[in-house]
Amino acid sequence: MAHPRCDQTVAWQALMGHAHAHGPTLDLRALFADDPERVSRLGMAAPELWADLSRCHWDLATWRHLMDLATECGLTAQRDAMLDGAPINRTEGRQVLHTALRAPRGAGPHGDEVHAVLDRLLAFADGIRARAGGAAAGDIRDVVNIGIGGSDLGPQMVVSALDAFVHPGLNFHFVSNVDGQDLASVLRRVHPDHTLFIIASKTFTTQETMANAHAARQWFVEQGGRDIARHFVATTTNVSAAAEFGIDTTFGFWDWVGGRFSLWSAIGLPVALALGSAQFQALLAGAHAMDRHFAEAPVPANLPMVLGLLDVWYRNGLHYTSRCVSPYDHGLRRLPAYLQQLVMESNGKSVDMAGAPLPYATSDVVWGEPGTNGQHAFFQMLHQGSDVIPVEFILVRQPSYRHAAALSPQMKALLDEQHLKLLANGLAQAQALMWGKTTEQALQEQAPTAAPDVAADVIARHRTFSGNRPSLTLLMDTVSPRSLGALIALYEHRTFVSGALWGINSFDQWGVELGKAMCKELLPRLVDGDVCELDPATAAMITRLRGAAR
Ligand code: F6P
Repeated sequence: MAHPRCDQTVAWQALMGHAHAHGPTLDLRALFADDPERVSRLGMAAPELWADLSRCHWDLATWRHLMDLATECGLTAQRDAMLDGAPINRTEGRQVLHTALRAPRGAGPHGDEVHAVLDRLLAFADGIRARAGGAAAGDIRDVVNIGIGGSDLGPQMVVSALDAFVHPGLNFHFVSNVDGQDLASVLRRVHPDHTLFIIASKTFTTQETMANAHAARQWFVEQGGRDIARHFVATTTNVSAAAEFGIDTTFGFWDWVGGRFSLWSAIGLPVALALGSAQFQALLAGAHAMDRHFAEAPVPANLPMVLGLLDVWYRNGLHYTSRCVSPYDHGLRRLPAYLQQLVMESNGKSVDMAGAPLPYATSDVVWGEPGTNGQHAFFQMLHQGSDVIPVEFILVRQPSYRHAAALSPQMKALLDEQHLKLLANGLAQAQALMWGKTTEQALQEQAPTAAPDVAADVIARHRTFSGNRPSLTLLMDTVSPRSLGALIALYEHRTFVSGALWGINSFDQWGVELGKAMCKELLPRLVDGDVCELDPATAAMITRLRGAAR
């Protein structure tokens, strides 16, 4: 059943009217002053997470209009269609069932095939781990995952986030870029007898991955590596192409798993190798817990739904163009990069399901760095720049190094102190963004590095913060396989929700095709210098690249 697009609803008219009338004057400080219950009303529990949405730019009326919008757009029916396996990826004629990958045995669609591969994958991973770090030829010390996009970002992000849980005898390397520097710098550090290469590609045709895979195989042979079959495995839906490449051990998955949703499938092999089967199952269980929350919680208490609605409000009501994701957990440093693909490849679209141009903006730009690094780089702009950019803080109560190898009591005390500093920094940024500092307050202060010939009121104006800059905070007790699984699933479902409201297909990615096709056409021209019928800019650049022009 076709559901109305957001702009075809009565709620949308009300929401946009509200944005027009009240959006510019929404002031967090006034909203808190008017509503003593704001923190408790806008605090939300979800599996493994607590969300504080009180510092978001919205009021009660916004909330009501958004709930109406969810109803009119049939959001729960759209969610159910996805979870039940309707072919909602219509432009590719596919189901969207990454949730089936984390359903317990005996539950969820495609259960038998999912668990058959999972069992084999985990047995393989545990077998490698049992001898990992050993000295005998064939004992693995280094795992090199060769893949790009979803075949790289998810596993890479999870392995770095869960560093404290990683097998101490294994090093993980992720090679994605077709730039040979990426592969070469890894190959310098590994030995063929002790390295496992995973060729990770849903299609097994991606240019970058296949180029790196061929180069890695060449290196392996040149270095006297024996037994390609033992040192190269594939994770792919294209089992025959992997066999043609010379790989015997392949872990398959299915076309109903989108590339950017594939870390739960065989593409998660590096994660299984890093964590072992029990912790990989915990990652899946955390995601499944979030799936249940998404499937069952009523819309106002459903965190992915509420965040997806917030995204639409921010993008279309308040015209915010980007969001900064700032995890105050160094392990989560690759989360912003992972989310860039998840959000922007899913929702960076300009037509609806029927191909009609959309009259409103869709995906925002997602970016960020871990705290506190971002504070010493771009936070200046977040506090005093001309654009309002909502920030998403991720705070973690217990530091991850608690799970790591034994620390001396002195070291533990020092690192615990650092963790408090980390948390205090995260709290302070959210507070500073909201409260700001008036020129009067700045005038009362001594500027630490003020030039003597600049008037105090001028300095004070430079030291003024407008405040009223929105943020939200996700609080995790600890970054564990289970809680990370829940966090990732939260972002997946949130992305689906905003896409569903916008009426777009969040599961195709035609936008990456044109460049790929043009690259194929240009590659031979770089070799032979033929620039016939090319646009003048590309032709001139090819000539320069070939050294034929100064
Ligand atoms: O960039 C397009 C894309 O198809 C992504 O969606 C995907 O994650 C990536 O390329 C890698 O594709 P594959 O896993 O087929 O190599």
